[in-house]
Amino acid sequence: MPERSVSAETLAAQALGHADPDSGGLAPVINPSTNYEQQPDGSYRQDRVYTRADNPTSEQAERLLAALEGAAPEGAGPEGAGSEGGACALFGSGMAAATAVFQSLLPGDHVLVSRVLYWGVRKWLAEFALTWGLDVEFTDTCDLEAVAAAIRPGRTRLLWVETPANPMWEITDLTALCELGHQAGARVAVDNTVATPVLTRPFEFGADLVVHSATKYLNGHGDVLAGAVLTARRDPFWERIRSWRRNAGAMLGPFEAWLLLRGMRTLFLRVHRASETALAVATRFDGHPALSAVLYPGLPSHPGHQIAARQMRGGFGGMLSLRLAGGAGDARAVLGAVRVFKRATSLGGVESLIEHRRASEGPSSPVPDDLLRLSVGIEPAADLIADLDAALGRLDGPR
Ligand SMILES: Cc1ncc(COP(=O)(O)O)c(C=O)c1O
Repeated sequence: MPERSVSAETLAAQALGHADPDSGGLAPVINPSTNYEQQPDGSYRQDRVYTRADNPTSEQAERLLAALEGAAPEGAGPEGAGSEGGACALFGSGMAAATAVFQSLLPGDHVLVSRVLYWGVRKWLAEFALTWGLDVEFTDTCDLEAVAAAIRPGRTRLLWVETPANPMWEITDLTALCELGHQAGARVAVDNTVATPVLTRPFEFGADLVVHSATKYLNGHGDVLAGAVLTARRDPFWERIRSWRRNAGAMLGPFEAWLLLRGMRTLFLRVHRASETALAVATRFDGHPALSAVLYPGLPSHPGHQIAARQMRGGFGGMLSLRLAGGAGDARAVLGAVRVFKRATSLGGVESLIEHRRASEGPSSPVPDDLLRLSVGIEPAADLIADLDAALGRLDGPR
């Protein structure tokens, strides 16, 4: 086992660095069992009973993600060794993880949510929060005065923010947001799917909860649907989230957990590569005559750049959006013309993706019609730039 002081990057590369105690194998093992043998005296080895509550393969992935996010020292189990420190719980999808947090609130609780965020969470809140009794309010979390005005001390129980936020890549100042939330007695939850712990560790800025769609960068290969919630403290609210997962059956299966563990071993390489390439793509096309805007927090012209430079370490992520000066028609023409970028939704995989985001979100989407969302993968920057250059160049010619 590596020393506790090794970097997060080493912990990820070595999947925590424990060889299998039975075989000495270095690759993590899968334990697919749904149930566990009861001893004649009624006890269970390791207290495991049934996999809807916990599973050794999921727990290894949870311990690794907790260590990467700085939620818990490597070695603490999800229930924790002792009562101090944080923990991680994996879910069957990012949406299962996000909704477990909201469903652990109580009827009447006021929730403040960033106005720009992943549409699935916004849609769920619009459709189900009311029936759950939650009082949900959307606000611009980049505008701290607006947040301060919207917080209702004693009633606001949760601030939910995504940064960089889908698909405009707006940046929220996490330190300032957490201060505002905590002054009012509210928890702050950060959807860290896009930044990943490679670039931002929200607990270091005061966050209480971190949420992931592990389907994206954490797994990174477009072949697993998974989610995670992490907590800074194992308090009663955390117990409600874990209890929700167990009782609602929202647990991730062991095969997916194993694939996720394998994906996370290359997380740092993939995120650094995608960030470098996205910056190269954004810089190359910033100011292109066919574009009205390149939205990327790594560009000095981005309104959130200064905060992102403080809050994101070693890169600005692999996500950017292009707004076409010629409007929706040109956006669709570029979408149809690319050859290297794959036309698909989702993000954070090894292959680069492009999508007309408003079409993916549907008629109620607030996303501008002229916007194309790009998820930059690990291909060489030159191939991606040449592809976009050719597609944008064709706008001038016959279409
Ligand atoms: C930022 C963000 N959060 C949450 C989700 C939901 O995750 P999943 O698709 O794994 O349910 C997504 C999915 O695209 C996302 O992009």
